[in-house]
Amino acid sequence: MSFELVFFGGTGDLTWRKLMPSLFQAWRHGKLPADGRILAVARDDRDSAGYRAWLKARLQEAESAKRPTDEEFSRFAELIHYLRMDLSQEADYLRLKSWLESRQADTIVMYLATSPHLFPQICQQLGQCGLNHERVRVVLEKPLGHDLASAQEINRVVRSVFSERQALRIDHYLGKPSVQNLVALRFGNVLFEPLWRRENIANIQITLAESLGVGTRGDFYDRTGALRDMIQNHALQLLTMIAMEPPSSADADAIRDEKLKVLRSLKPFDAFTVGRDVVRGQYRAGSIDGEHVPGYHEEDKVPADSQTETFVALRCEIANWRWAGVPFYLRTGKRLAQRHSEIVVNFRPIPHPIFPGSHAPNRLVIKLQPEDGLELQLLAAKGGLSSVLAGGNGHEALSPVSLDLDFDKAFPTERVGAYERLLLDALAGRLNLFVRSDEQEQAWRWVQPILDTWAQDPSGLRPYAAGTWGPPASSALVARDSFTWPEEL
Ligand code: BG6
Repeated sequence: MSFELVFFGGTGDLTWRKLMPSLFQAWRHGKLPADGRILAVARDDRDSAGYRAWLKARLQEAESAKRPTDEEFSRFAELIHYLRMDLSQEADYLRLKSWLESRQADTIVMYLATSPHLFPQICQQLGQCGLNHERVRVVLEKPLGHDLASAQEINRVVRSVFSERQALRIDHYLGKPSVQNLVALRFGNVLFEPLWRRENIANIQITLAESLGVGTRGDFYDRTGALRDMIQNHALQLLTMIAMEPPSSADADAIRDEKLKVLRSLKPFDAFTVGRDVVRGQYRAGSIDGEHVPGYHEEDKVPADSQTETFVALRCEIANWRWAGVPFYLRTGKRLAQRHSEIVVNFRPIPHPIFPGSHAPNRLVIKLQPEDGLELQLLAAKGGLSSVLAGGNGHEALSPVSLDLDFDKAFPTERVGAYERLLLDALAGRLNLFVRSDEQEQAWRWVQPILDTWAQDPSGLRPYAAGTWGPPASSALVARDSFTWPEEL
């Protein structure tokens, strides 16, 4: 299959930090289709040779296992080209068109890795010069919009130029290996599905914790905040994967229909429930791994009086037969104690204990990072069955054990990073892991009352010291239902 992959925002952070390294990995693993060209588009005045030299230097910042050798880079770089474009100029799109028409590739993927306010303009210009024909797909990076109205407006323009099947909204969390395995676990095995409901599950907790601060992205982040940056997209997408009904097939729309139903079943917030069930915080100076780190207000390009949240914890419920009454807790934050993302399914306690000692309920932990895998926490007889039956010495009769599946060890050669997988899917036209516009708008619709309530009442932002797990109100949110976050067990 021949392809053209065009990166708008070709010199931006996302392109050199994530997209190019992922493409390089795909190429190194022999997964990138042969006969492709990669075109970086940006405003700077340089030529392809200059861009390749610049990119080579940038890739040296990748982790060592992912860094190309000189020999590898020079072969990979043969695929890479550069085109200077002013994105407001029609003439520049015509130059892009003639570059693309120098051959008739099977697939053309336009990856918009620019600021989202440029998406409508780029899509319109592509449409005007006829670059929206059936061989073209467009990939839209998050954040798609700033609120429901702006997301709808972007989608309106995108839809006027491209069909739904041509517009791929990316959420890189859907490309993470553990998320794939979550779906495989649920719908490829008989074991879990009968248990996967309110009768057996006490609560579900999704944690997306980062130890890094906002780094060089202070201006972007301060306009965005944790709710828009992580909850509206990544956390809600994970929640749909956990909570959806079994789809009728693995077809993209069968899956996306089920995810949409979950989003539509989320109990809506109002001003009262936002105050009660949503906690927002902002980090102050603290220490992480023994190093002093500055507070959010001291970060580069962040106003000293910023009210932007860097932490959110919330409690929500899904109003349907499967999940009624089961709390789902979502939390995310910058400068937390560790980089640690996981989904914890807390099962209910057994109904009638016959053994003395611990009765810690079963838990299934889906680990997203830093390592990925699955851990099923059970209880077993520590000192042999006789000691359990005899009561042994009481509190030691049952002990926690875990069935641990480390995917890196189980499938060492097949591990594919999130962006690598999603880029290959975009080239192949596999839509399963991309977000449909109605899903994405529904997610905005659900977070909108939170945004509105916060805009009315800027008080309520709670400070937390960097290196902790967020403001104490986050623990209180869960404790109110007699539960705890995993690190508090
Ligand atoms: C991005 C957010 O979507 O996800 C960043 O904009 C965040 O703020 C990043 O750091 C986290 O991704 P990952 O894969 O490192 O957990």
